[in-house]
Amino acid sequence: MKQNILKKKIIKIFKNHKLSTSHALICANALINAELVDAPTHGLSRLKMYCDRINKKVINPKPKIKIKKISQSICHVDANNSIGFVAADVGIKQAIKNAKKTGIGVVGIKNSGHYGLSGYYAEQAVRKNLIAFCFTNAPPAIAPHGARKSLFGTNPICFGAPTSSKVPFILDTSVSVINRGKIRVAARTGKKIPKGVALDKLGKPTTDAKKALEGVQLPIAGFRGSGFAWMVDILSGVLTGGNHAGRVKDPFDDFSGPQNIGHLFIVIKPNLFVGNYNQRIKENIKRIKRLPKIKGVKEILYPGQSKSRRYKINLKKVINLPKNILEDLKKLDA
Ligand SMILES: NC(=O)c1ccc[n+]([C@@H]2O[C@H](COP(=O)([O-])OP(=O)(O)OC[C@H]3O[C@@H](n4cnc5c(N)ncnc54)[C@H](O)[C@@H]3O)[C@@H](O)[C@H]2O)c1
Repeated sequence: MKQNILKKKIIKIFKNHKLSTSHALICANALINAELVDAPTHGLSRLKMYCDRINKKVINPKPKIKIKKISQSICHVDANNSIGFVAADVGIKQAIKNAKKTGIGVVGIKNSGHYGLSGYYAEQAVRKNLIAFCFTNAPPAIAPHGARKSLFGTNPICFGAPTSSKVPFILDTSVSVINRGKIRVAARTGKKIPKGVALDKLGKPTTDAKKALEGVQLPIAGFRGSGFAWMVDILSGVLTGGNHAGRVKDPFDDFSGPQNIGHLFIVIKPNLFVGNYNQRIKENIKRIKRLPKIKGVKEILYPGQSKSRRYKINLKKVINLPKNILEDLKKLDA
């Protein structure tokens, strides 16, 4: 489907679900961006879920978002159970504003929902020549190291930095071996998942996606990944007033109340300590890229580089949506 037609459709659907035009636009842009960076698990495949949550009154389509100023650098946002895209948009814009003014902007957000891709928000700061950390927690998927029950979300860690070129450094990674969206898609399409990414509910390794969803996902790098997931739960949940310790509700399966997800955005000016950041980052990347490569590798990429290439190519194409999502769109647009 042509991107402009798809965008209009999404805006109309969200407006029919009582979002304002500006909030509907924020959501449409975020969903289309996910498709363009080849992350369909965070794109249109979630549109029905967001609408279902609005219909069941666990996402507030007309939030009264409050921004409490704690200092020139620090703000606390109560998103009033808004859709996550809107809460995150308010939060990152505020963090950018504070960082420009004081050198650092720290914004904690509570009462939010699933906000999609962390990198999308980090990119907004990097485009303004700022460094950004973005954290969000998510519903239980990973068992803490040594536990048989999942509690941490796939809690992505995201770091973005200007590179002195048009392509930003964006490290944006879940702390699970693969992200949960990929397992959901495999479960829906009856495909197997790779070995070593999940255990079934009895604690046995499984390649069956449905069993994996009932069981636990494995963190990256064993207890280290479990530690990262815990860190993100502290930063985005404990610190902000959001849900934490396994209380974030699954957006697809649990309509018993709002998710109250927490996010934390930390934005920094790159010239806080040195005046020649641009020159230093250029040299840093150049030295790494010049290293001798292992067999089969043509180029050493920095995080964000391949995504940026895919985005540029996809921007010129129509967005291909699977049949089930086209059906969802048709029903929601009726
Ligand atoms: N909102 C949520 O609750 C939530 C939860 C989990 C994940 N997510 C999002 O899902 C998205 C996907 O996460 P993921 O873990 O599947 O990411 P991924 O495995 O696709 O990529 C992880 C990182 O590795 C980098 N990378 C990939 N190939 C590379 C290469 N050849 N050389 C160097 N770096 C390379 C990417 O740029 C990226 O920064 C992220 O945007 C994340 O924010 C969101």
